[in-house]
Amino acid sequence: MLYLGIALGAVTLGLIWWNLTLDALWQPTDRVTVRRILSLAGVKPGETVVDLGCGDGRIVVAAAREFGARAVGVEIDPFRALLGKTWIRLAGLSDRARIVWGDMYKFDLSQADIVILFLSGKANKKLEGKLASELRPGARVVSYFHPLYGFTPTEIRGSKRGEPLFLYRMGG
Ligand SMILES: C[S@@+](CC[C@H](N)C(=O)[O-])C[C@H]1O[C@@H](n2cnc3c(N)ncnc32)[C@H](O)[C@@H]1O
Repeated sequence: MLYLGIALGAVTLGLIWWNLTLDALWQPTDRVTVRRILSLAGVKPGETVVDLGCGDGRIVVAAAREFGARAVGVEIDPFRALLGKTWIRLAGLSDRARIVWGDMYKFDLSQADIVILFLSGKANKKLEGKLASELRPGARVVSYFHPLYGFTPTEIRGSKRGEPLFLYRMGG
């Protein structure tokens, strides 16, 4: 029993340390802001929404349930990815929502109509080239809090607490 406790403690500490090495730490978006993000993106039924770094999948669930989107979340942390998968199943949304456990920098964005980001300045900087090369013209990106310095926002609104929500439209 003691060894099990030590092993569990070591795994937990290892996970916490590993999370600190990620380009973006987990901070869930509040419900009001989730809706503002999806409204600003102008999500329409049937559109494909991708949340890069989806945490527990709350934006994915809301996009599918409240906006009728096909929603995909990409999350590198196995526990949060599992939480998101479970939530989708419990909500009965498995036909149009899914979570991919993996690295967002390697996820193919060519099918996305809309990409949601709530990450960090560093992660956004690293993603700019990928967004520009993989997204089709007219695709939209909403970034919560952190701008994409390589693009000009078409609109800026506020989150529940007043932080910026940046909307970008990919050019041709
Ligand atoms: C600020 S949280 C945002 C969570 C969610 N999008 C929301 O708004 O509630 C950032 C998330 O990005 C994830 N993340 C960081 N680096 C990642 C990577 N390379 N690939 C996939 N997810 C990553 C973190 O594990 C964390 O859950």
